[in-house]
Amino acid sequence: MRNSAIFLFLFLVLGSCKNSSTPTESMATYETPLYQEPHRPQYHFTPREKWMNDPNGLVYYKGVYHLFYQYYPEDIVWGPMHWGHATSTDLVHWEHKPIALFPDQHGYIFSGSAVVDFENTSGLGTKENPAMIAIFTYHLMEGEKAGKTDYQTQGIAYSLDGGDSWEMYAENPVIGNPGIKDFRDPKVFWNEKTNAWSMLLVAGDHLQIWGSNNLIDWEKQSEFGKNQGAHGGVWECPDLFSFTDQATGTEKWVLFISINPGAPNGGSGTQYFVGDFDGKTFVSDQKEDQWVDWGTDNYAGVTYNHTPDGSRLFIGWMSNWLYAQNTPTERWRSAMTLPRILSLKDVQGVPTLFSTPAPAWNALGNDNEGKDVSIAAGQSVVTYSEDLNQSKIDFIWDGSAMSLSFVNQKQEHLNIHLDPENQQMSIDRSASGLVDFQEDFKTIQTGPIGDLPHTDIPVTIFLDQSSVEIFMNNGQKVMTAQFFNNLTFNQLKIENKGPEKCTYKGLKITPIQSIWGAE
Ligand code: FRU
Repeated sequence: MRNSAIFLFLFLVLGSCKNSSTPTESMATYETPLYQEPHRPQYHFTPREKWMNDPNGLVYYKGVYHLFYQYYPEDIVWGPMHWGHATSTDLVHWEHKPIALFPDQHGYIFSGSAVVDFENTSGLGTKENPAMIAIFTYHLMEGEKAGKTDYQTQGIAYSLDGGDSWEMYAENPVIGNPGIKDFRDPKVFWNEKTNAWSMLLVAGDHLQIWGSNNLIDWEKQSEFGKNQGAHGGVWECPDLFSFTDQATGTEKWVLFISINPGAPNGGSGTQYFVGDFDGKTFVSDQKEDQWVDWGTDNYAGVTYNHTPDGSRLFIGWMSNWLYAQNTPTERWRSAMTLPRILSLKDVQGVPTLFSTPAPAWNALGNDNEGKDVSIAAGQSVVTYSEDLNQSKIDFIWDGSAMSLSFVNQKQEHLNIHLDPENQQMSIDRSASGLVDFQEDFKTIQTGPIGDLPHTDIPVTIFLDQSSVEIFMNNGQKVMTAQFFNNLTFNQLKIENKGPEKCTYKGLKITPIQSIWGAE
């Protein structure tokens, strides 16, 4: 009764506005309050409703972290892309903002980046009130449907009120299509080596680097990667940034390239290259493929421009194109990873990417030392907690074979195995609840751990209703995956699979509150 009244109300209100879309069934029929639906993450970012994929336009300006994202406001599957928008001042809570960018005559608004044009190089703002500029790919569906190859071009839009309202640049596109079918996902950053703007663009099987003095006129400078790295699928969503070793002053550059398919555990994943960049050309002599995250569900992740302390802050899309459109949620689809800080550290002579949760998340539970848990060979202990599905779990791993299982009263379980003999960790979600919506979802996923220390390895695990993020050795190895249990996990079973008694030091479970108030 109440619902049909709401439906009628919405219909009357929306029906009377020109150009507004008809309310979808879903707006009226949900009984569960927003952000309390089954599987809804409680402390990760999700849109109120409908389909979301890649994070876009990650930019910090005047105390605010902006998160734009690929968004289709009409359905819970991919469709005509818009840029949704949310902001945060603490990387914990998010405020939903109106949709920033809408498709226009040049096409859907695909992924891209945002900068603040502090020096007003574009002339679109002023030095006193610099423009926030979004640089994105236009995808012209009519062109694709007509079998053409030139339907992806690059456009810009600008905001003079800190991202609240946006104007499309009148002369779009700023880069036309050179006859390359997959030509997209511009990442723009201020390049201190050239004192100009750089743009990374992916072009099917390689990266292109372009340069500009004003964000409007662009010139191609170099290419990378036709014969390097993983090529199991199309290259997408590039990013490039540097780290300087404090001790030696040596600068190294890290290039991110998302690929779909071709990730180590199937479907989509993000590889990285360590190398050098002279301001125009990136080179790398890296031989082995490296991955930002070995789990199945961290894709299209990129980093923020203009962070206040210069830190390299990353957010990824917590899904996989293999099954992203089939996951068992109804009102919204998919979440972002926790914001993560990236760094580059030497591991046995190899510059290695580390990702740790943003400081507010890392610090959770630090006031509690936890307890040491000793388990005899082949035995297990079970800890009960009502909050497991929404918690941070910390302990120090002694380096011997073990497993952790999150279990509920239906005996659904999510298992994590740490297996030094085979030098791998794995996530087994095959019996974790709803798993049949896509056949690959049940496959056990693995990540290598051969280069971790042999003992005293800090392990941090975040569980948030339908996601698990595992950080090994302060982020040296990371795995992120979704799962859909039918009932809250309330038991953590830790099993010693090694031949000797072990002690896992500092075990603690820290419950995490929902970040969503009355939405
Ligand atoms: C990556 C991606 C991008 C593209 C966007 C479209 O997930 O395929 O390459 O710009 O999604 O939504």
